[in-house]
Amino acid sequence: MQEKINLIRSEILEKIDSFDSSRALYEFRKLFLDNKEGKISLLMKGLKDVPKEDRPAAGKSINELKNWALSLFEEYDARIHKLELEKKIAGEAVDVTEPAVKRRAGALHPNTMVQNELIDIFSAMGFEIYEGSEIETDYYNFTALNTPEDHPARDMQDTFYLSPGFLLRTQTSAGQIHVMEKSRPPIKILSPGKVFRSDDDATHSPMFSQMEGLVVDRGISLCDLQGMLDLFSEKIFGQGVKTRLRPSYFPFTEPSVEVDVSCFECGGKGCKLCKGTGWIEVLGAGVVNRHVLENCGIDPDEYTGFAFGMGVERIAMLKYGINNIKVLFESDTRFAEQFRD
Ligand code: PHE
Repeated sequence: MQEKINLIRSEILEKIDSFDSSRALYEFRKLFLDNKEGKISLLMKGLKDVPKEDRPAAGKSINELKNWALSLFEEYDARIHKLELEKKIAGEAVDVTEPAVKRRAGALHPNTMVQNELIDIFSAMGFEIYEGSEIETDYYNFTALNTPEDHPARDMQDTFYLSPGFLLRTQTSAGQIHVMEKSRPPIKILSPGKVFRSDDDATHSPMFSQMEGLVVDRGISLCDLQGMLDLFSEKIFGQGVKTRLRPSYFPFTEPSVEVDVSCFECGGKGCKLCKGTGWIEVLGAGVVNRHVLENCGIDPDEYTGFAFGMGVERIAMLKYGINNIKVLFESDTRFAEQFRD
């Protein structure tokens, strides 16, 4: 018996130093201390075969071996655990000298900023927002706007037709008809949205954004339009900016005007931006043509109105000194970041 005990003892001592993981140590421990199959447990079970008179001494020795093994494994287990923890902590060390990853904050696109600004200005004047749809029928985009099929004005706008009768709207003016069909005066709406034209150069894009305004009530005249535009121009381009109306032509307004603002760059003296004229064209407008009111079931002898339409990109380009419309559509975040408020 003593021999067996010595053998187990030396077997344990021989290997116990070689483990570097608590898992491996645990497996090794099981070889000796497993309740069923551990070598020490089996010794205990073998006691019954020991002659009766030797049994107490053998039992004592086995117990001593067991206690010795238990405390030895405990001591090694604690040591390995400590090493494992130190290793883990060393692996997770924070290098406080490492440069931080730079966070890049987003910025609103200049077009969005101008659009928001326009919406703020006009809603403060009591305009309600109406968003129409980008796909329109020929009727809403042209016919109802006093632009019949054979009207030369249809050639003024190169249209993307989707199928006979359906098109991508070329102007937010289509929204005027929807609003006037559904509601009765007083009407005061602002209709922002994308429009599409087959047009592509440094200042034109096949898709761009417009902002349409429509006011219909009793006694509305061109004076109301100009008064409102004066307020708008100072708000968007700065104090002291004046407006000027020039005669123009749109089938859906009569009279029609082109609206210029005095150059906010040179104060009207003449510079590169205003091409030496002192004035910059910003939008088209006019008194709603009586045929358009009639088309929507509004009595033109009782009600009158004015409408205006402006290109959002054009305003953004003027305001921020952008000379090519393409950069507004390139989705380069570095571009938008330059205009952060
Ligand atoms: N729809 C016109 C355009 O796209 C602008 C406009 C709107 C003119 C309303 C007069 C009245 O050019």
